[in-house]
Amino acid sequence: MIDLVATARALFAHGKGILAADESVHTATERLASHGIPTGEEMRRQFRDLLLNAEGVEQYLSGVILFSETLAQKGNDKNLFPLSLAARNIMPGIKVDLGADPMSESPDEFITQGLLDLPERLAVYKKQGALFTKWRAVIRIEGDTLPTPTAIHENAKRLASYAKEVQTAGLVPIIEPEVLLLGKHSRAEARAVITRTLGTVFSVLEEHSVDRASVVLKTAMALSGSESGKKDTPEEVAEDTLAALAESVPRQVAGIAFLSGGQTADQATDNLAAIIRRAKDVSAPWPLTFSFARALQDEALFVWKGKEENVAAARAVFLARLAAVSSSLN
Ligand code: 13P
Repeated sequence: MIDLVATARALFAHGKGILAADESVHTATERLASHGIPTGEEMRRQFRDLLLNAEGVEQYLSGVILFSETLAQKGNDKNLFPLSLAARNIMPGIKVDLGADPMSESPDEFITQGLLDLPERLAVYKKQGALFTKWRAVIRIEGDTLPTPTAIHENAKRLASYAKEVQTAGLVPIIEPEVLLLGKHSRAEARAVITRTLGTVFSVLEEHSVDRASVVLKTAMALSGSESGKKDTPEEVAEDTLAALAESVPRQVAGIAFLSGGQTADQATDNLAAIIRRAKDVSAPWPLTFSFARALQDEALFVWKGKEENVAAARAVFLARLAAVSSSLN
């Protein structure tokens, strides 16, 4: 039997973190298009090969979150991506939610889909080599009206049902209730909403008897909204992020991984470094690491442009960013 707690803890191996490369077809198409890169299944495969088969990524990565399409694709070396990752001691994971739709009760908010056929899909992903999974919920801040308690609670219930199903299937759940950066809100509001959201999520997880010791939390940092006109210092971000987590996250979780959420690569790296420094100062109880998508990928996509002749240069930029993010863990 797989030891779920050991698997979850191994995602926090010293100096290592998680690459999120689990963009859906829709999101991957948008990301590639924003760099002028043509799309289609083959370009998405090359995009994943660029990142996953860059030489030396195993120094920095404990795991990679994949999209279902990638789980069944082969790299340029003709090996299936999940198998070649596992051969380098990088755990393959899988995004299992099916995206978020507007809520009928509150149409400006979102509820994540994907519970109906989850057990069947988990059995397939497990056979394909996945060891852990991810479910993302999105929580929007808007003035005094959003998020509504209903949006937080309904998303928490689905996160808990997902986590329970996943543990039953013998896989590790990453729960990602992402409080979005988008908006005019202050950092104090972000901190309050993160605290409220995570508090609700962990109390609903408890009601569903989810084993917290094999749960990984993936969360946003507490930042001023992207349209607030305010730029936070890394020390401010670290203080408010850790304060929110201290109030809401049980010490028993396997660890906490931060998403980048639309920050620049430098911002996300500097803010992570400040969070890690402060976590040591205040003796925070959980292992911490990164689980970035955009902050790890954007510079490489900019250099790659979808062209074979740019692969080596794009990989060099990707590895340099990984090295910087990983060293911020020390
Ligand atoms: P970002 O780091 O780009 O926010 O992505 C993380 C992620 O996995 C979103 O679901």
